[in-house]
Amino acid sequence: MQRLIHLRDCLHHHNHRYHVLDDPEITDGEYDRLFAELLDLERQFSHWVTPDSPSQRVGAKPLSRLVEVRHGVPMLSLDNLFQEADVGGFDRRIREGLGRDEAIVYVAEPKLDGVAVSLLYRRGLLQRAATRGDGQVGEEVTAQLRTLATIPLQLAGEGTIPDLLEVRGEVYMPLAGFEQWNHVARERGEKPFANPRNAAAGSLRQLDANKTAERPLHFFCHGLGQWEGGTMPEEHDAILQRLKGWRLPVCDLWERVVGVEGCVDYYRRMEARRASLPYEIDGVVYKVNRLADRERLGYVARSPRWAAAHKFVPREVSTRLLGVDFQVGRTGVLTPVARLQPVSVGGVTIANATLHNLQEMALKDVRVGDTVMVRRAGDVIPEVVGVVLSRRSPDALPMVWPTHCPGCGANVEQEEGKVALRCTAGLACAAQRKEGIKHFVSRRALDIEGMGDRMVEWLVQAGLVQDWADIFFLANHRARLCTLDRLGEKSVDNLLSAIETAKQRHLGQFLFALGIRDVGETIALNLARHFGTLDHLMAADREALAGVSEVGSVVAERVCQFFQDAHHRAVLERLREIEGTQWWRMPTSHPSSTTHQPLAGKTVVLTGTLKQMTRQEAKARLEGLGAKVSGSVSERTFLVVAGESPGSKRQRAEALGVRILTEEEWMGLLEGRFSV
Ligand code: IVH
Repeated sequence: MQRLIHLRDCLHHHNHRYHVLDDPEITDGEYDRLFAELLDLERQFSHWVTPDSPSQRVGAKPLSRLVEVRHGVPMLSLDNLFQEADVGGFDRRIREGLGRDEAIVYVAEPKLDGVAVSLLYRRGLLQRAATRGDGQVGEEVTAQLRTLATIPLQLAGEGTIPDLLEVRGEVYMPLAGFEQWNHVARERGEKPFANPRNAAAGSLRQLDANKTAERPLHFFCHGLGQWEGGTMPEEHDAILQRLKGWRLPVCDLWERVVGVEGCVDYYRRMEARRASLPYEIDGVVYKVNRLADRERLGYVARSPRWAAAHKFVPREVSTRLLGVDFQVGRTGVLTPVARLQPVSVGGVTIANATLHNLQEMALKDVRVGDTVMVRRAGDVIPEVVGVVLSRRSPDALPMVWPTHCPGCGANVEQEEGKVALRCTAGLACAAQRKEGIKHFVSRRALDIEGMGDRMVEWLVQAGLVQDWADIFFLANHRARLCTLDRLGEKSVDNLLSAIETAKQRHLGQFLFALGIRDVGETIALNLARHFGTLDHLMAADREALAGVSEVGSVVAERVCQFFQDAHHRAVLERLREIEGTQWWRMPTSHPSSTTHQPLAGKTVVLTGTLKQMTRQEAKARLEGLGAKVSGSVSERTFLVVAGESPGSKRQRAEALGVRILTEEEWMGLLEGRFSV
């Protein structure tokens, strides 16, 4: 029994370190062993299973419907402020209401774009969770919310926890989880979520909590409902700190600010950070800090006088779909692209947006002439998220799928079990060739500086480059290059010398540059290391290929097909004629096996935004190199990988003298060009 209690406490603790603090103390394997031991003991002594046991997050039976619950204290909404000038009026009404001249202390917080929920804890134990509903009556979602690892089933920590404590906050889906979920949905030909808020709402309302458990949901609390049988601090900032101390997740971006200037300054800083946050926020919230002041101010209709939401410009707007073009990708896939009535989304004018694929267009029943919702968030390509059916005009035209490639006129085909339409012409298709050239020279491939997408477009249009090999004969056309749009002599020289440098890339980078379907950087590197030279690789049969780390039968087949293709062989022959190229082999000094783990046992921290991969990907890659990835910098940190806008973690690393890698160096480390 004692062991059981100990295990439960231990798992609660490690759960909190991992999911809330992002700073695990044990490895996943160690966690799994503790969890397995708990399950084993609970199987033997089932009468000792308590509702707060970490084993009780999933497994509830599906409900037949959601039950209504009445909130003890109504869940209110917030008044919106749309302009900076509105903040003055909000602050003035508060000072007038309180009869005070001096500046008011507020707590400013991000306004999370998710679903409002209430969590009721009795004697620290999660008893009931509910959605906001109409503010008076919501729906019970206890079983669903218990599956969120960030929500503690049992509060613990310093200070007495009130007998009854209602915590309020927001359930949201982080952007990475949302993109990943939609990516998988698209691959399966299922309808993706329109935006992270819909994703969170839909996931919470699942009658089968096991489905909710599969969704990447998180929670932040931002205040209290009712509490009884205990005391709580009298200021909001102290309450947030106390909730955090009890293991509840609180978004760390809140600040205590003073007066209108403090609020507006916070708003501007959050707006600047918005694009780099890992979750979506649609504004900031200002709240009077002192609870006694809040009480005096009271409410108007359904919103408090003591708080307001200051909204950002929306990231989702409606506009008209004027037409649909089909773009041919590097592997021949036709992507439908919407031509839109130009519209400003978050300060950027958008005239084109992706429709992803045909199946999705069909599921969403998108028609030319429709009013559509367009979304733009962070760095992702703008997308059409849905149709406003209520505004469909009778002459909106149902879609007609192309039967021929818009790039070369060849037939298009739909692979069995696949969603995409594909041009059948391979490298004979000029559009595919052009996209292949863009990939070949891109940063993660041969990395020819100064040869971005626009430059490739020019070179192809000018007839100077028709395939990969032509790039290396550009020096013969120096005079023509100098006459190209906006290209001075100096730029031409730089470009030609970057092309020369690209001859030094190794086989791993070259294989990736070839753009063989399903051969990403890791697989390209594994193949290069395994076979050592391109000749050995080309001579390998399917079986030998499939034996390489992370290469299955599908990839093996793709590699074989690629090298059997006559066009590919012809271009490779031309590439071989270029003098001084190093692409054909892997340097012998290069780390030779996939078990190479330069960061074995070391603690690494990621901070800032990485341009070339998501956080999750970077974390997985670091773990692949043997590192333990932690959320905070300490004396034990071996190194920090800092992307753009790195913030306080970088400062702390500098203060502690911890080594900091730029994204460039980090990519070098991954590719074995750089060592630590
Ligand atoms: S405080 C009485 N703080 O915005 C005020 N709300 O329009 C209670 N929201 O339903 C809300 N982030 O779900 C507060 N930091 C934050 C918030 C936040 C998002 C949501 C909340 C509420 C809605 C109000």
